[in-house]
Amino acid sequence: MQITQWNIISEGLDQQRRYSRDALFTIGNGYFGIRGFFEEDDQGIGALGGLYMAGIFGKGEVDVVSGPSRELCNIPQVLRLRIILDGEKVALDHIQDFSQELNLQNGVYTRKYVWTSKTSARFALVFERFARMDQVQEIWQRLTVVALDSSATLKVQSLMDSNVTNLNWASKEPWPIQPGRDHIASRTLRDNQMQIQLDDADDTVLCIAQKVKAYSGYEAVTSSPYTGDRECGSVFETTLAVNAPFVLEKAVHVYAPRMDARQEQAQAAFLDAATTYDEAFEKHASCWLKRWNTADIQLLAPERDQGALRYNLFELMAVSPQHTERVSIGARGLSGEMYEGCVFWDNEIFQLPFFYWSDPKSAHRMLRFRYHTLPAAIERAKELWFKGALYPWQVSEKGKEQTIVEGGAYYAIHITADIAFAIRQYVELSQDADFLQNGAFEILVQTARFWVSRCDADPADGKYHIRSVRGPNEYDVYVDDSAYTNYLAAYNLRSVAWAWGILKQRDAEQSQRLADSLGLISKEAELMQEIANNLVIPATEDGMLILEDNRYRERRPLDLTKIDTGGKRLIDSVMPYEALPLYQITKQADVVLLMNLFPHNFTDQQKKTAYEYYEPRTAHDSSLSYSPHGLMAARLGLMTEAYDYFEKSVLLDVEDRQMNTVSGIHYANFGGTWQIVFYGFMGISVNGDTLCISPRLPKQWQGFSTKFYFRGAVFQIQYRNGELSTELICGDGKYMVMLEDEKFILSNEKPKAIVKKSL
Ligand code: BGC
Repeated sequence: MQITQWNIISEGLDQQRRYSRDALFTIGNGYFGIRGFFEEDDQGIGALGGLYMAGIFGKGEVDVVSGPSRELCNIPQVLRLRIILDGEKVALDHIQDFSQELNLQNGVYTRKYVWTSKTSARFALVFERFARMDQVQEIWQRLTVVALDSSATLKVQSLMDSNVTNLNWASKEPWPIQPGRDHIASRTLRDNQMQIQLDDADDTVLCIAQKVKAYSGYEAVTSSPYTGDRECGSVFETTLAVNAPFVLEKAVHVYAPRMDARQEQAQAAFLDAATTYDEAFEKHASCWLKRWNTADIQLLAPERDQGALRYNLFELMAVSPQHTERVSIGARGLSGEMYEGCVFWDNEIFQLPFFYWSDPKSAHRMLRFRYHTLPAAIERAKELWFKGALYPWQVSEKGKEQTIVEGGAYYAIHITADIAFAIRQYVELSQDADFLQNGAFEILVQTARFWVSRCDADPADGKYHIRSVRGPNEYDVYVDDSAYTNYLAAYNLRSVAWAWGILKQRDAEQSQRLADSLGLISKEAELMQEIANNLVIPATEDGMLILEDNRYRERRPLDLTKIDTGGKRLIDSVMPYEALPLYQITKQADVVLLMNLFPHNFTDQQKKTAYEYYEPRTAHDSSLSYSPHGLMAARLGLMTEAYDYFEKSVLLDVEDRQMNTVSGIHYANFGGTWQIVFYGFMGISVNGDTLCISPRLPKQWQGFSTKFYFRGAVFQIQYRNGELSTELICGDGKYMVMLEDEKFILSNEKPKAIVKKSL
């Protein structure tokens, strides 16, 4: 894999890695996710493509907790190309100089190769595509064919192919891919238009239309319409002269009336418009440029680190929904079918921080998704005899519990507090009190009510306990007093008074009306506070080591370095699942993660003790584990370890380090990589009202520069040659900034910028 400043390039066609490369080269715009599949391959599994739309789910097959089960649908492969040169179909044998390239600056995915016909004539082919950012319902594609040796006849079928099923990710690694469920109940095809009725309870219909043009030399090539059994489109026939490129440009528009009825007119307008590929590209690329403005982190560092970091950020931006609040980002986004396309806590704890600092509007939209699914969370709490709102562990766009019945993952109730945590973080960072008034306060109150009903007071110690939960360490199935869960639950409970205070100050009457509508009275808020202050956080007697749960230290010790997994990645592939809870083994960051979320609430000594204790006990059997360790190591100044974890995290999908990229790229890890860099290496945090910046770079890096949002303002920080500068780019307020150990106030008047020789 070649990684440059702005490109990820793979050379040579490696059949073994082909489908994990498909996932790696996923492009998107939050509406579509398009794996890097080969448009011209209509044979076997490759023909299924891998094209997903946010919120388009069909009937799933697994037995889930609050059925019916749903799974993200693989929609028709609308970019199908059949290319026939001198009567011979271009296929994937007889190719040379094969390369795949993702341009991170503008989201264009390009594939190239030279194909040799049976008569030894060579042809250069280039395939390009992008999911348009400024018109998210559109995908654009360009094919260029050049005869290198002799002229030839060329026939190209440019189609939309509905002969697809989902891919079936059998549950055992190394993921043998099989065709899976067919979600298409019926189809209506006509030339360049297709209507698909999905086989789901919502009767989802997809309306698809395409426009295709082609040129040979500078001459337009005419097309004839084509409608087959399960595919339709346009067919072009021409003669290729040597070195005179044939160029085909296509745009596809897809919408689901159930999701947005207005798109019917948009599709008609799309069909009427005379936009060219270059024109569409220009608008699309300028959207990406704007987006990178407050997201990019420019490094003075090895090119690989820079390019791979940008890849992580690119994929986060390419999946974040811009068009709706009704969906959020799944664990594997729109890049594969693992976890049925569902959303987890990954979103709030790992992914969202990138968005609140770089694109608060996107963060807001994703949190609003939790508001829209609050009724399902209230229903879930009721089903389980609790009060308030219990957010399900794994959800599709409907917000219902989609966790499989066996395994008990739905005991991971910390997700409810994770959502409350993210809301508070977002509101504190963006100062978006409107959101508190319109939805967020309701979530905070209902989730806090859940904790009140879920905890138990113990007269023996006068404390509150939360029993029988699963913390982030999912190898301990049902623990009592998970430190992570209790700490976040307490924060959730306290956040009600915090939010109410803000709302009262803003508009006392309005806030009272809101509290009345929720039936919230001071007494209830006081009880929440009292529970928060008395929830047990297990720790050693001296308080130095926070314990993952109340019995962690009673478990059997286990030296992870002595376990031979026989080349397999996960410890649970050699240890029986039933045995895991008996040992001091942590699946993924747990207490370390907790301390990362509240960096100013624990002493350096407590953090160091926790890191030293849990790090050797952590199996990293989840992609959510390297990055919290990297961040903590950076905060502790352990730069060699921090850089090592950074590498593992930033290259996780680029190098398929966990051998499961094939089933989708890992969005929580992308967000985690950003956290190591932003919070760890650049040393950014917020303490009360103060923005703190205290860089700690690994020795491989010499500097960085980035822009970000803080309290509605935009800041730029730069670090090079031991000099740290911070500038207020725009913002009306007065901002307290702590550069390493010195405090400054920045405002529009003066000073707007400060430069400091770093320690
Ligand atoms: C992790 C969970 C995570 C899920 C989806 C699991 O392996 O243990 O914490 O939410 O993957 O990414």
